[in-house]
Amino acid sequence: MKLLSVLCSALLLSLSLSVSAGPIVIKYSHVVADATPKGQAALKFKELAEKKLPGKVEVQVFPNSQLFGDGKEMEALLLGDVQILAPSLAKFGKYTKKIQIFDLPFLFDDIDAVGRFQNSAKGRELFTSMTDKGIVGFGYIHNGMKHFSANKPLRTPADAKGLKFRIQASDVLEAQFKALDANPQKIAFAEVYQALQSGVVDGAENPWANIYTKKFHEVQGYITESGHGVLDYMVIANAKWWDGLPADVKKGLTEAMEESIAYGNKVALTEDDDFKAKVVADNKAKLIQLTAAEKQQWRDAMRPVWAKFENDIGKDLIDAALAANAKPKAEKKKSDKKAKSEHKSEKK
Ligand code: LMR
Repeated sequence: MKLLSVLCSALLLSLSLSVSAGPIVIKYSHVVADATPKGQAALKFKELAEKKLPGKVEVQVFPNSQLFGDGKEMEALLLGDVQILAPSLAKFGKYTKKIQIFDLPFLFDDIDAVGRFQNSAKGRELFTSMTDKGIVGFGYIHNGMKHFSANKPLRTPADAKGLKFRIQASDVLEAQFKALDANPQKIAFAEVYQALQSGVVDGAENPWANIYTKKFHEVQGYITESGHGVLDYMVIANAKWWDGLPADVKKGLTEAMEESIAYGNKVALTEDDDFKAKVVADNKAKLIQLTAAEKQQWRDAMRPVWAKFENDIGKDLIDAALAANAKPKAEKKKSDKKAKSEHKSEKK
């Protein structure tokens, strides 16, 4: 009997040794295609983490909602079924009201302004806005500015009236479409193509990378280049899992995280125009460009949404975001110079 229990203990010990000797498996799940900025950042993270920590970690990337769709992924993170996610900033409403700031329509002039806010002290503070819920943030990855699409042309806010629009799970986005007298429907990303194709909804709002890689332009008649909001991400992990990692693993993963986020952002900033060009070249949906006056109409129609969420988000945060619209001097000089030379060559 004694011998048996000694043998059992030896067996258990060797089993646990062989388990702990294997690499730490890190599942990184997301809902978009590999070719998008987030998809590229996740693959880069795998490459870098496994290079920096050979034999110590194995990163498994699951794109296209293969492991978890966006209805379930946050729960899965908290249960430890997945270790890293990068949900759209529109999908954190249940965990913090502050990150809702990114959904306010026409808050940011362009993606560079979004980047300046994200890199500011106020923007970085949001990484710890969910620690009480067991979630830690590492960084932001851009996708791009969102544009409206529909099965009819949208030139002015009146054109959206009564139409059904797919939205991400965000109360701000719900309010945004209600402000247009439209009918918003929260639908998981994996079901958007089908919803547009079958007419469950009439329209949507997406950045170019998502439109192209999910072929939304093939099931929408028109895309209005509105740039009325942003679709970016926060890379997050389960805080308890993260805190329990050995120091050397944490260090390697932190570096891999920072470098892969920078890589994803570079992809986003350089390829947004390419994705747009591919959508246009496919010639399936008609591209609508707004005049300044038309754009102002959309701005005016959606602006009341800000006041509704100001208390939840915090005026200080909104002010910091607005301040990020001001171009730094060097950049402003460069863009003024560019505008001048464009103006000169137009005159020639
Ligand atoms: C969406 O649901 O439209 C986006 O959040 C998908 C994504 O991750 O870009």
